[in-house]
Amino acid sequence: MSANARKTAPLPDDIRARKGGVPIVSLTAYTTPMAQLMDAQCDFVLVGDSVGMVLHGLESTLGVTLDMMILHGRAVKRGLNHAMMVVDMPFGSYEESREQAFRNAARIMAETGAGAVKLEGGVGMAGTIAFLVGRGIPVMAHIGLTPQSINTLGGYKVQGRGAAGDALLGDARAVADAGAFAVVLEKVPAVLADRVTQDIAIPTIGIGASAGCDGQILVVDDMLGLFTAFKPKFVKRYATLGAQAEAAIAAYASEVRARAFPAPEHIFADTQPEALK
Ligand code: KIV
Repeated sequence: MSANARKTAPLPDDIRARKGGVPIVSLTAYTTPMAQLMDAQCDFVLVGDSVGMVLHGLESTLGVTLDMMILHGRAVKRGLNHAMMVVDMPFGSYEESREQAFRNAARIMAETGAGAVKLEGGVGMAGTIAFLVGRGIPVMAHIGLTPQSINTLGGYKVQGRGAAGDALLGDARAVADAGAFAVVLEKVPAVLADRVTQDIAIPTIGIGASAGCDGQILVVDDMLGLFTAFKPKFVKRYATLGAQAEAAIAAYASEVRARAFPAPEHIFADTQPEALK
């Protein structure tokens, strides 16, 4: 099914049913205008906690709060008519207990209109995922490189290489068995991503994984060239909007300094033309 032919937003079950079919298209968004730009092309839009680094200048995702996610979730929702919205649960909002996870996930669902939440973790989070799903909250899981655990992972390294691949497959099986409707695989060897994709019954959404995944996701500011502080190997830049914006701002600054802007067509006469009176 093409995204353009769709009349209503897909549900988590519709995404689950895409296993092995036409690849699922997704991007992150944090604002209404960006959500509007991608709505017709995406099956789901993720309000990622990457918002902290991309829009708020934080050094990691650890400082992102539930209130920030809700604010950006509400903004993104206003820009979507076709794509499903998934909102990230930020660091510290779900790890303490299943009850804490439910309370905060319920807030996200009720206050943003999200179709699902996403949380990071494999075997260790399976009980929480089952608890949420059993209480009406669809969950997308996220395994492999999980940026909220950067301090225990020791950096933004490829996960699951060599013998560690079996543990990652165990994580994928655990979240699928717990009832997650899809799982993000971040920064894992392609051969492992393919193995996981073939092994589990729910769609895998790759980012730095493999073209063989059931879908792909990128951070929109990365792929548009708007976020240029660094570029992970797995990012393809489809545009260089940051460079274009810099050039436009420089042109504006030089025209202001030269009193070339505003030009006659941007200013107002003291009297209205007769026809407009
Ligand atoms: O926060 C985010 O943008 C994400 C994607 C990278 C999957 O989790």
